[in-house]
Amino acid sequence: MEKKRIVTGDRPTGKLHIGHYFGSLINRVKLQDEYEQFILVADVQALTDNFDNPEKVRNNVRELVMDYLSCGIDPEKTTIYIQSMIPETTELTIYYSNLVTVARLERNPTVKTELAQKKHVFGENITYGFLGYPVNQAADITILGGEVVPAGEDQEPLIEQCREIVRKFNSIYGDVLKEPEIYLSENKRIKGLDGNDKMGKSLGNAIYLSDTPEEITRKVMSAVTDPNRIKKDDLGNPDVCMVAYYHKLFTGKEDLQKVCEECRAGKRGCVACKKELAQNIIEYLRPMREKREYLEAHPEIIDKVLLEGTAKAKKEAEKIMKKIKQAMKLDYFGNINK
Ligand code: TRP
Repeated sequence: MEKKRIVTGDRPTGKLHIGHYFGSLINRVKLQDEYEQFILVADVQALTDNFDNPEKVRNNVRELVMDYLSCGIDPEKTTIYIQSMIPETTELTIYYSNLVTVARLERNPTVKTELAQKKHVFGENITYGFLGYPVNQAADITILGGEVVPAGEDQEPLIEQCREIVRKFNSIYGDVLKEPEIYLSENKRIKGLDGNDKMGKSLGNAIYLSDTPEEITRKVMSAVTDPNRIKKDDLGNPDVCMVAYYHKLFTGKEDLQKVCEECRAGKRGCVACKKELAQNIIEYLRPMREKREYLEAHPEIIDKVLLEGTAKAKKEAEKIMKKIKQAMKLDYFGNINK
């Protein structure tokens, strides 16, 4: 039986953190055996809000791939490629742009949240490209026939937008495209060290997969704990403590129970509790850090993964583009070019 296809990816704008890990990477590692997985480095999408900083996007392409390989994505099983090197995606974005209204894009909750974070106002300084990035993302997924998209919860409205475009396309041009589904994690969203609902680079509350033990310790020591607990023997409430929250992710079941019981009974100081957590995170991330160090010393490995992955993705995209152009009556003179 043929394996189902996964298409997913990230913008190369910075290193990945534990929110990415528990939110989507963990699934991509798990699913790569069962599915045929494609992961794209979304440089074109990253440019939609970094067009004036191309260096940043370019420099983060390798960082992203190093994060992927260090956390267990295996290039023997998963095809990793660069979005801008598949021009079929860019071409398809234009075809799709007829199938979506500006009003619908303005209502996309993910787009709205991003604009609010940047304090942008519709109609003023929003570029055509940024407003349209969900259309480009729909092209990413469908140009490779993606059926399943393991991604964080914030991507849900983008997948829904893609599904609508697919339905519209199929109803006009015939049944050519597949409607993808999002695949969410058990831990859909990881909170920040400061208790913010979301861990994020721009929020300054993240632990990166590549952080050193010293950085991890420093960050954990700054995490927000139960504000009502002032002295060590005050009774604590782990439900409102970020340290207890991360213990749930990094500490074994039995030890976790002990952490929570001792905290409630006022028998565990926050400093000791943080030190224990920092140690557990350091150990958890150790293999990733070591793998990354190796990759940093061997950049040729990253080049090879990207070159081979991109060549494979390009071939697949060409096949699907042929069908799309046929359906859209754009297949002039047979299929000389495509
Ligand atoms: N929007 C994703 C992010 O913010 C990146 C992305 C681009 C993507 N194309 C995709 C995710 C296709 C899943 C599927 O990082």
